[in-house]
Amino acid sequence: MSFPLGRPARLAVLASGRGSNMESLAAAFPPGDPVAEVVLVLSDRADAGVLEKARAAGISSEHVPWRDRGSFEAAAQEALVTARIDLVCLAGFMRLLSADFVGRWEGRILNIHPSLLPKHRGLNPHRQALDEGVDRTGCSVHFVDAGMDTGLVVAQRSVPILPGDTEEDLAARVLPVEHALYPEAVRLVLSGAAAS
Ligand code: GRF
Repeated sequence: MSFPLGRPARLAVLASGRGSNMESLAAAFPPGDPVAEVVLVLSDRADAGVLEKARAAGISSEHVPWRDRGSFEAAAQEALVTARIDLVCLAGFMRLLSADFVGRWEGRILNIHPSLLPKHRGLNPHRQALDEGVDRTGCSVHFVDAGMDTGLVVAQRSVPILPGDTEEDLAARVLPVEHALYPEAVRLVLSGAAAS
């Protein structure tokens, strides 16, 4: 299977937390949109805000418990296949997926990370940027491979780091940029203009 599909793509969002990127994707790709529709939200955490937001938006959602990676991936795969998902979007999903799982979704699984990849991979990217003393940071949407934030970058955008900035300041400056960038990157992938 390759993009473009010639029909609206069915998107799933995997998230562990608040879910503001899921909300922005759902707003960009609502029911009836000719490009895509967010049809499924999965979370490894029962108490994640993203599940509440999905319910409020009328999007089918499911808590898939992380007892171990194998059981999570088996249940997630079944939910994704049952929902006939074309593209998986990780958004604040705080687990590392196996090479096997991401291999099954090669070219059809994206993540957003709040740094200018390949800089500041993994946890606490804003802290890493401040510690390094760089004057810009930002966010990147990339294809997911078996590494931590290592896959091919589809799109990225930068913001300035100002004197006295804290991690919270950076997160607040980058987040609205994430919300604009992720739907743009999804459009690029679905158009066939960006492939892994
Ligand atoms: C975002 O900053 C995302 O880039 C990072 O985790 C945060 C998730 O925020 N991976 P939200 O759950 O989408 O609000």
